[in-house]
Amino acid sequence: MLSQLEARGVSYSLQGIVKDYGEFRLTVEQLELREGEIFCLLGPSGAGKSTLLRLLNFLTPPDSGKMTLFGRTYLSSNFTPELQIMRQITTVFQRPALLNERVWNNIVYPLKLRRQAVDKAAITPIIERLGLSGILDQPAATLSGGEAQRVALARALVFSPKVLLLDEPTANLDPENIAIIEGMVTSYAAEHRSTIVWITHNQFQARRVGDRVCLLEKGRIIEVNSKEKIFSDPDNQRTREFLCGDILY
Ligand SMILES: Nc1ncnc2c1ncn2[C@@H]1O[C@H](COP(=O)(O)OP(=O)(O)OP(=O)(O)O)[C@@H](O)[C@H]1O
Ligand SMILES: [Mg+2]
Repeated sequence: MLSQLEARGVSYSLQGIVKDYGEFRLTVEQLELREGEIFCLLGPSGAGKSTLLRLLNFLTPPDSGKMTLFGRTYLSSNFTPELQIMRQITTVFQRPALLNERVWNNIVYPLKLRRQAVDKAAITPIIERLGLSGILDQPAATLSGGEAQRVALARALVFSPKVLLLDEPTANLDPENIAIIEGMVTSYAAEHRSTIVWITHNQFQARRVGDRVCLLEKGRIIEVNSKEKIFSDPDNQRTREFLCGDILY
């Protein structure tokens, strides 16, 4: 019988992807991402995690291979998604880049961009969950790092993206802010059938939030497995060494 995770639909399918930067080459022979899962990407610095995320966000075209998203196929020669596909994808980076405006304007910006109505009833739970109710009028430039990242996440979620890409979003934050962000993303994942890819340097974070975990090393996927499997009995010896802290990076 299929596990609950395996039964979910496929959002992304990558085949024969190569991205060459000369010294560094990312190769993804085969990878499928599922609707409704949190897929954690672990790996040493320089492994290619952000490069893979930029591919998923269509920011970096591959040199060869193909990527399918929501049933549409993009080849390296034609790596330009339709606007309605691009508008289903959003990324939160380690350092939030906010507009130099009030918090509220930042949060509703994606809706304005998409010419969607601002539905306060739908946005309020996100704002409350992220603890932003008291600072909606504050200029974004005056926010603390944790507040700014919570605003960046609210802005990413207001339009209910089908794909949420997170590149070390909590790397610079304190435990309280980390807990708020992890709680928000995991409950979003449970309530929507979105695909979430979360790059983290912290394997304990992957244990807390991930459904599946992928170890990337030197531009290659070493192992993809369910969280339970990878942390208790990984298939690959390199994974075991990485998770034991035997690989220094
Ligand atoms: N635009 C680029 N031009 C040339 N080389 C690049 C470019 N982008 C990334 N690289 C190289 O690709 C390799 C992988 O980089 P990437 O940023 O994907 O690693 P990472 O796993 O995200 O690392 P970190 O954990 O430090 O963020 C690095 O050697 C980097 O220098
Ligand atoms: Mg990176």
